[in-house]
Amino acid sequence: MTETWKARLQFALHRTAARFSYGVTHYRHPLRRAAWRAATEIPKRIPTATTPLECAEIYQAVHACEKIPGDVAEVGVYRGGTAGIILAASQKRLHLFDTFGGLPSGDGQFARGEWSGSIEDVRANLAAWAHRVELHPGFFPESATGMEGTCFSFVHLDLDLHESTRAALEWFWPRLHRGGLLLSHDYPFSRGVVRAFDEFFRDRPISFLQLAGNQCLAVKID
Ligand SMILES: C[S@@+](CC[C@H](N)C(=O)[O-])C[C@H]1O[C@@H](n2cnc3c(N)ncnc32)[C@H](O)[C@@H]1O
Repeated sequence: MTETWKARLQFALHRTAARFSYGVTHYRHPLRRAAWRAATEIPKRIPTATTPLECAEIYQAVHACEKIPGDVAEVGVYRGGTAGIILAASQKRLHLFDTFGGLPSGDGQFARGEWSGSIEDVRANLAAWAHRVELHPGFFPESATGMEGTCFSFVHLDLDLHESTRAALEWFWPRLHRGGLLLSHDYPFSRGVVRAFDEFFRDRPISFLQLAGNQCLAVKID
């Protein structure tokens, strides 16, 4: 197939997808290969609530932060799928925060107890990286007590709820190193997450960006 035909076919695919309000992207470029391998291989072994495209976005954001000083954290772990993506993209220590009993409350869009993954399950799923995984069970932010002096280069939030997301933004943003990234799932499809981000960043001179998946990303600039 010639390059012209490939380009025509790709455009036809993009236009067809656009008719259904979808966008199409591809991960064939060598610089995207590692992200795509992790995003497609890890969810075969470890369950996740995150799509392959979103997993690839996480991988690339984590990888971009390797040169920034600080640890890496995820709040909202479920059974460890996105934690596996983060570990594959980084050589750093990863702090994982979750009730390990599912969502602590319901809000009309999500139900209490939804996305329950046990700590034993997460430990088993992430066994290959056990030497650099720290589990912090309990209700966040109480579960972060004692870690106030820790600095982070990358933070992944996947909490579904307004109260949890707002608390995580309040706790992590001051502890994110300059140049670090905070990526959250569920923007714009969780009403609570949208409200938490809009409230938190309203009076701060910081922009956050919606990504191609159900995600948004903020960069720490000072
Ligand atoms: C959608 S799941 C996370 C999915 C996971 N990131 C993945 O895709 O592999 C949401 C998680 O947030 C956790 N969660 C929500 N609010 C929390 C809070 N305040 N403290 C601790 N965990 C919380 C729930 O227990 C649940 O495991």
